[in-house]
Amino acid sequence: MSELTLDLRDRPRPQAYAELAAHVAAVLDGVRDPIAAMATVAALVHHAFGHLWSGFYRVVEPGRLLRVGPYQGTLGCLEIAFGRGVCGTAAAERRTIIVPDVLDFPGHIVCDPRARSEIVVPVIGRGESLIGVFDVDASYPGAFGAADAEGLDLVLAWFKQVDGEGNGG
Ligand code: SME
Repeated sequence: MSELTLDLRDRPRPQAYAELAAHVAAVLDGVRDPIAAMATVAALVHHAFGHLWSGFYRVVEPGRLLRVGPYQGTLGCLEIAFGRGVCGTAAAERRTIIVPDVLDFPGHIVCDPRARSEIVVPVIGRGESLIGVFDVDASYPGAFGAADAEGLDLVLAWFKQVDGEGNGG
């Protein structure tokens, strides 16, 4: 039943992400197109947890620039420079950043003023290339923890087969 959009809010997070990763793999079976995969992951994560915004910023100039990719939620800003905001910092440092309260993150970029906490995970492709980042925003502080970081890594492992920095630019 890979066509279903799962609601996983009642599951413990590790179990929810394991189910989600399996579901993503089933829906994307035979798919090679990274943009189609990003759209699928954004939709499934968004509806699984019901947060405010879930989506991708893609590396379009390696080391310099991210541009918005497939997402669900209110309007996201179009471009973010490496090193700017939570997304640009996660891209520049190639590490997951959990922001328990966006008011405490200097330089946080406000797209939706309702957002209060955020997680941004690097999306790694073939040969350890950086393809982009995946960003999830929640309407309340402290929404994300280690289980989300580990779980999103699991879900985003699909992209390890995608070639090259700047893919999709
Ligand atoms: N808050 C992010 C910007 C992207 S949006 O929230 C969709 C940041 O500081 O990088």
